[in-house]
Amino acid sequence: MLNNQIINWYYKNKRDLPWRNTKNPYLIWISEIMLQQTRVATAIDYYNKFTERFPSVNDLALADEQEILNLWQGLGYYSRARNLHHAAKTIHTIYKGIFPKTHKEILALKGIGSYTAAAISSFAYNLPYAALDGNVFRVLARLYGVDTPIDSSEGKKLFQNLADETMGNARPEIYNQAVIEFGALQCTPKSPNCDICPLISNCVAYQSDMVEQLPKKSKQIKPKNRYFYYLFLSCSGRFAIEKREGKDIWKSMYQYPLIESDNDLSTETLLQSNQWKEIFDSSNLVILSISDNIVHKLTHQNINTRFIHIEVDARHLKNYDRFIFVNKKESERYPFPKLIDNHITNCDI
Ligand code: ADE
Repeated sequence: MLNNQIINWYYKNKRDLPWRNTKNPYLIWISEIMLQQTRVATAIDYYNKFTERFPSVNDLALADEQEILNLWQGLGYYSRARNLHHAAKTIHTIYKGIFPKTHKEILALKGIGSYTAAAISSFAYNLPYAALDGNVFRVLARLYGVDTPIDSSEGKKLFQNLADETMGNARPEIYNQAVIEFGALQCTPKSPNCDICPLISNCVAYQSDMVEQLPKKSKQIKPKNRYFYYLFLSCSGRFAIEKREGKDIWKSMYQYPLIESDNDLSTETLLQSNQWKEIFDSSNLVILSISDNIVHKLTHQNINTRFIHIEVDARHLKNYDRFIFVNKKESERYPFPKLIDNHITNCDI
């Protein structure tokens, strides 16, 4: 049986990861959310720090959002952290701090999709839900030689059926870990070492020389270009920051005052823009430097960024009070996107 072969492989090859030594659904949840967009090697440190600071769901529920975002800083996809907080509050108030025990209740929590619900339900409670993440999609697409795009609605249904069938009556808590690990270590995206694979004789992709072509995805959407002009406004060893509001990326995190545009702006256009005039009271400014363009790539957007350094004082700014002026040390209390955090680290102020 394929499920047994995968489990046997797992016992011989598995890594000892911190979230594997627990049945605590809260700890499993934190690890799975971190691992959604983050490599295992990076996640371990964050996981240890996060769970040390917030050892229980109630600790997380009662925490300040800014502190949570601070601990998440550098991991990206910050809505994951905000959703964790939201769901922790739900568990604290509705479930009296006891993590829900059914798949349906877990799936209803904010930020938990079908993969994460299956992972928590199976790892913590051994419930029979086959987990389907990127690793498992890849294993199944190759094993059964399926070229239906994994991100199509047809593909999602088809692969869920294959995942359920392949799990069969194996113990969900072990099987799910095993197939995820098999995808992560053996059936890797690039150049998997098929010569040592225990499933080689069952693998349709291997038999038909399709390993590198599978899994298939639908056509990728072209990323949108955005142009961010961050104003690094320094004043006697401090610089201006503000909280990012609205529904956009990096919500509730901090940043330098920002001028955003849909297209690349020349310096003259920037200086004459309404956004510039909303910030500055005076045209009597000295621009100390404008950085090269830094392209920060997100899933569906490229953030083209320039940092513009201006030394200012109160006379230069409209509503000076809308900004917080911090020095480097004080800035550590605030969560910043990586782009800004790198700039703060490297600026000499
Ligand atoms: N990727 C997603 N979940 C994982 C887990 N529990 N262990 C290792 N890698 C993973």
